[in-house]
Amino acid sequence: MKRTIRDLKDLQGKRVLLRCDFNVPLDHWGDIQNTTRIDASLPTISYLVSQDAKVVICSHLGRPKGYDKFLSLFPVAVNLMKHFPNRVKFSGKVVGPEVEDAVNKLKNGEILLLENLRFDPGEADNDPEFVKKLCDLCDVYVDDAFGVAHRKQASNFGVALKKPNAIGFLIEKELEIFDKALQKPAHPFVAIFGGAKVEDKLGLIDNVLDVADTILIGGGMAYTFLQANGFSIGKSIVALDLVAEASRIMQNAKEKGVKIVLPVDHVVMENGKVKRVNRPEIDDDAVGLDIGKKTIKLFTKEIMHAKQIVWNGPVGKYEDPFFKNGTTKIAKAVAKSRAYSIVGGGDSINAVEEAGVSKKISHLSTGGGASMKLMEGKTLPAVDVIDTI
Ligand code: 3PG
Repeated sequence: MKRTIRDLKDLQGKRVLLRCDFNVPLDHWGDIQNTTRIDASLPTISYLVSQDAKVVICSHLGRPKGYDKFLSLFPVAVNLMKHFPNRVKFSGKVVGPEVEDAVNKLKNGEILLLENLRFDPGEADNDPEFVKKLCDLCDVYVDDAFGVAHRKQASNFGVALKKPNAIGFLIEKELEIFDKALQKPAHPFVAIFGGAKVEDKLGLIDNVLDVADTILIGGGMAYTFLQANGFSIGKSIVALDLVAEASRIMQNAKEKGVKIVLPVDHVVMENGKVKRVNRPEIDDDAVGLDIGKKTIKLFTKEIMHAKQIVWNGPVGKYEDPFFKNGTTKIAKAVAKSRAYSIVGGGDSINAVEEAGVSKKISHLSTGGGASMKLMEGKTLPAVDVIDTI
């Protein structure tokens, strides 16, 4: 069992480095569009404050190459100030003597949020020098950044190797939920996969074949499966090198008695016009960009019979208003079903939030990539490195 924050004793006055995933969407004005990831980190932060620790929080935001004023974590500090009035300070620097000074000046129960870790190239490279500078800021390390736990970086891997460590409440909860969903699933278990990149999801479908009863495939990745079934897909996105692999997966599913459901109609763009196509085949000049009404009905029927649902990835080009209908309808169906539902991945989460049904989803995962790794049956390096008890 991994050591958790509850197992850390005598935190009073200790400098605790807490790794969060505050990789939140910002609008043009730098305002936070969605605070789910911040809200999900609050139990761990509150606990450390209640234990009178000196809480030093670090996170990445986006993928900057060096300093980028549009990716400062300052807006996150402002949000945290609302939750912890008069306790939060912001460091304009990531590491270094000034930051050490600011950490040493913290009173017990105060919080210092460091600037975006990825402004320093040492973070992504897990550079030993950068690891040392982070270690100089703390006595104890807590990792609660589930969203980035599939990566091996300085702040979530290097530091954990050098300091007494533990996972926070958010990582603990995410691991428990995925473990239960994959080890002891409620049946019928319906998995819904979408998104454009089929290469990202094949390993996951393969693994889920051992536990799911039905797999619904939509989004850009569906066309590789349709091509494997011999349908014409026009100019739709396809991974030609993976068509044979998609065939193998469908054959495997058949042998295991798992139902794979593919789109039977589409919304396409053809010669600059949006059109409905009432059959699985797509004309030569058309690009499939969303599931059609018959597919929505077919998917909804499966969703309504489910006792457990895992959904990762939009079933159409969700970011385009012309092609978001399928994903929105699926979000509503998942929310309406009585199943235990887990939704992961940015677009699927946006879809349930925009549809106003996020409260009806049993668990909104804060990690798209990390949850995919768990569904592939893999472990997460940033969790592996935490001590066991
Ligand atoms: C995410 O948003 O998926 C996590 O914060 C990880 O971000 P990354 O893919 O840029 O490492």
